[in-house]
Amino acid sequence: MAFEEMWRDLAPIGRSATSGGYVRQPWTSAESELRSWFAEECAARGLALETDGIGNQVAWWRPEGTSGPGVLTGSHLDSVVDGGAYDGPLGVVSALAAIDRLRSRGFQPDRPVGVGVFVEEEGSRFGRACLGSRLVTGATTWSEARELTDRDGVHLGDAVSAAGLDPDAGLVSLDDVGCFVELHVEQGRDLVGRDAAVGVASGIWPHGRWRFEFAGEANHAGTTRMEDRHDPMLTYAMTALAANKQARLAEQRATFGRVEVVPNGTNAVPSLVTAWLDARADTDGALTDLVGAVARQAHDRAERDGTTLSVTAESVSGSVAFDAALASRLAGPARPGGGWPVIATQAGHDAGILSAAGVPTAMLFVRNPTGVSHSPAETASTDDCLAGVEALAEVLAELAGAGPGASA
Ligand code: GLV
Ligand code: MN
Ligand code: MN
Repeated sequence: MAFEEMWRDLAPIGRSATSGGYVRQPWTSAESELRSWFAEECAARGLALETDGIGNQVAWWRPEGTSGPGVLTGSHLDSVVDGGAYDGPLGVVSALAAIDRLRSRGFQPDRPVGVGVFVEEEGSRFGRACLGSRLVTGATTWSEARELTDRDGVHLGDAVSAAGLDPDAGLVSLDDVGCFVELHVEQGRDLVGRDAAVGVASGIWPHGRWRFEFAGEANHAGTTRMEDRHDPMLTYAMTALAANKQARLAEQRATFGRVEVVPNGTNAVPSLVTAWLDARADTDGALTDLVGAVARQAHDRAERDGTTLSVTAESVSGSVAFDAALASRLAGPARPGGGWPVIATQAGHDAGILSAAGVPTAMLFVRNPTGVSHSPAETASTDDCLAGVEALAEVLAELAGAGPGASA
């Protein structure tokens, strides 16, 4: 099935009728539909599919004559809450389309070529980014992860079982993976500025999520004098402003994108405000400094407001430098047009987790004309997506083909 047909098939799955965005949370019916779609596409191509106990999928094209460590590509199919169509699925659909191209050209790989789909990449349900690949690489253990809870208090272990999976059935193994190449829509406008449809990643900024719990005293919104209040909303509001200022001053990123308020009543001073800080910086030290500065200002303000504050790290990803030799080889200055630009990203990816686990890893980015991502407005042109498929096919052919330099 051609790229455009696969894209059309995926379009309605998990799409919100109101926003047009995607709600493809892991271990929900939308995600299981996506998993079935992937299984069908793999079956149609005769790929050998393995689905593990938590829903990660890896499908191998292993024609006769292939041997040695394989070349893995792929991405994820889950989305943030009300996300775009491209973040994740573009890498999976492009991987299948790239294999189709190679086959139609009669290409015979020397090494197996695999397509992986990792679950809960966004951490949108259980708060831990790249959870599937973290579990597969051992960066997170199942005994810890199974206790994570979603917004409704459901434990991960129960959610996985309720989705018809058996978490005790084990995880896919990456033992036979020689290198990983993830194609992804760009989540910025760097490639627009460089007038390039495709780019190669140099690395990923360190980033993470911290839960700030501001506790105060519930009280009447009318009868409680302003000076008598212990209002955690004020402490939170000042903290959100401080985070923004701190990030601007340091040329880093800080966002409060999710807040929960108890009891969340219009005419009551709240007793508890929980807010999640997403922070990103260009070095690990700068990230620690940024989060430390925000937490310090929040504590100072809490003292003035008569509230209390606790800060808990929920998901932290260190800085990633992708295999530089692999990146410059893929960027290929000899390619027509002088090669693909090599750019850094502030977004997290399973590729970062595999790279941290020691797998030689690279990423290809496809131009995003607006730069918008994690939003229903995320987009990429069909021409650029097809250029991405062609780029990925070239890369897979180079890495899985004959010759001493083939594998990373
Ligand atoms: C993943 O997309 C992230 O960087 O949040
Ligand atoms: Mn993604
Ligand atoms: Mn994302």
